[in-house]
Amino acid sequence: MASCVILRRMSSEAAPQFLTELKRTHPCGALRGADIGKNDVVLMGWVATRRDHGGRVFIDLRDRTGITQVVFGPDLDPSAHQLAGELRSEFCIAIQGRVISRGDNKNSKIPTGEIEVEATRLTIFSRSETPPFEISDDTDAGEAVRLKYRYLDLRRPALQKNFLVRSQLYRATRDYFYENEFAELETPFMVKYTPGGARNFLVPSRLNPGHFYALAESPQIFKQLFMVAGFDRYFQIVRCFRDEDLRLDRQPEFTQIDVEMSFVAEEDVYRIMEGLIARIWKDVLGVEVPRPFHRLSYDDAMAKYGVDKPDLRFGLPLTDVTELLRPMNGGGVPLFAGALEQKGIIKALRLPAENAGALSRTEADKLEEFVKGFGARGLARAKVAEGGEWTQSPLAKNVTPEARAAINAAVGATPGDYLFFQFGRPKLVNAVLGGLRLHLGNKLGLIPKDAAWRFSWITDFPLFDYDDERKSYVAAHHPFTSPRLEDVPLLETDPGRVKARAYDLVLNGNEIAGGSLRIFQRDVQQKVFAALGLSEDDFRAKFGFLLDAFKYGPPPHGGIAFGLDRLAMLLCGAESLRDVIAFPKTQKGTDQMTDAPTAVSDAQLEELHVRLAPTVAVKKEG
Ligand code: AMO
Repeated sequence: MASCVILRRMSSEAAPQFLTELKRTHPCGALRGADIGKNDVVLMGWVATRRDHGGRVFIDLRDRTGITQVVFGPDLDPSAHQLAGELRSEFCIAIQGRVISRGDNKNSKIPTGEIEVEATRLTIFSRSETPPFEISDDTDAGEAVRLKYRYLDLRRPALQKNFLVRSQLYRATRDYFYENEFAELETPFMVKYTPGGARNFLVPSRLNPGHFYALAESPQIFKQLFMVAGFDRYFQIVRCFRDEDLRLDRQPEFTQIDVEMSFVAEEDVYRIMEGLIARIWKDVLGVEVPRPFHRLSYDDAMAKYGVDKPDLRFGLPLTDVTELLRPMNGGGVPLFAGALEQKGIIKALRLPAENAGALSRTEADKLEEFVKGFGARGLARAKVAEGGEWTQSPLAKNVTPEARAAINAAVGATPGDYLFFQFGRPKLVNAVLGGLRLHLGNKLGLIPKDAAWRFSWITDFPLFDYDDERKSYVAAHHPFTSPRLEDVPLLETDPGRVKARAYDLVLNGNEIAGGSLRIFQRDVQQKVFAALGLSEDDFRAKFGFLLDAFKYGPPPHGGIAFGLDRLAMLLCGAESLRDVIAFPKTQKGTDQMTDAPTAVSDAQLEELHVRLAPTVAVKKEG
């Protein structure tokens, strides 16, 4: 008896019939009122929900385009109706049926809400176990379980949408570059290890015992060699690998839109890249982005916002009061005087009365804890009273009336304002107040929901950063970044003051791209290496191939790379790169689904000529 049922099902409902003869006529999000009356539509997808109602079975059938309500009834087709009784969430099925009006039961929340399909045939391609979480956008499942079953997480409409946006982003990018005479070229992932920049992942070479490849942190050197080779305009959508500490906007493998051009100056790069962004925003979001973009020098960005990727959608600028207080010896405040003595700076952030009102005294106290997360020792503050007096402040009893008046005037203080102070090393002061500014902006809702896209180029970066630990200069961008030509003499006398021909593009507080014009003159390159403390032998050992290439007529060139994942995140309104990378890594660099990284067998290690340190205790595989 049972085998008879199975045989009957196999002959009348076998999947091939649907795939070979009954082809899909519509995706699940496509049917509209105009389709009412169509008799033989064929839909394929997953059962999102199923309900039994007065002898009928209703399902929402879902694919990446949306959902359609399908109804089964004994009057419509008895065998389809009987089989529909077996349907459960996430079964993968096909149906054939007739499009009818939902009459008074229209669902205005979905685009197919005017219609439903009365099923006359059903096949179950595959059944599903009960999924570990509900496949819906308002699922309350934690991220760990969603990443473990990422293929189910990716079925959720919000994520499907994100990845279709990402796909459009690739397309707009490629269209733009092909229309503008760029060649799409590839570069190797397994490359020579070169120091500087991000920490590299290393790959042991089986064929060359004791030798390692690095996974490319970017195609930087190779794209410059393309310019030497005469390709003129190059782009690539390319995976990059960096063994960095991970954050919401950082993944160990991420994608760049990488670009290099010959015979260009900064203005050409800005113009062509603004064109790319405008094209992406138009094609993906239908938004016209005003051009040219805003520009801000690195020094101004640091002075006013404390960071080199300011969010320009709201105010709260910082004010440097160091020079104001210097002639006053700190204006009576011993901590200010101490900071000045130690060559520190003093900066203030003014929270205007209209925003300060929303911050209770306890909340203002809590800000102290917040800034400690940035390494601050405390957060001096004052509330401005009528007549410019300061209250709620330990500073109040020391500050001279003259210094208080000068600070009030410099920051534009009015009664009811909060003033927050930070003093000491410039790096710390800026990090703390920059972080506080952003925190207050978010906490007090100062960023309008419909705020525009605020792009800005950040220009005139320093060429070098000073590494306090190593007591030497390191390249702020990378060692092939051109100094400003007028600053070349400073390379030998005062490297810290040399500005680079480098630029970043920031958007709403995110660094979305960075690049520079490159050094192509051998003598300038040598001076830069010397300022970095590299001897001729050092840099020959590390970058000899590039220096050799530059002996053969390198063109002037420059470029940029965009963080494609960050662009996708912003275009989707997502808050984490994990929402726009299909199979992302966790904060600890692990893949929840496959369990990578895993231990490997001793035999594998031996083959690679690698031995683990005795201190490493790992669970052995294989
Ligand atoms: P840079 O290191 O600034 O420049 O990288 C370019 C852009 O890539 C993105 N990005 C990242 N995105 C996600 N996760 C990460 N770990 C990560 N690191 C960087 C950022 C950044 O602006 N070769 C140079 C470019 C050049 O000079 O042409 C480079 O790689 O959005």
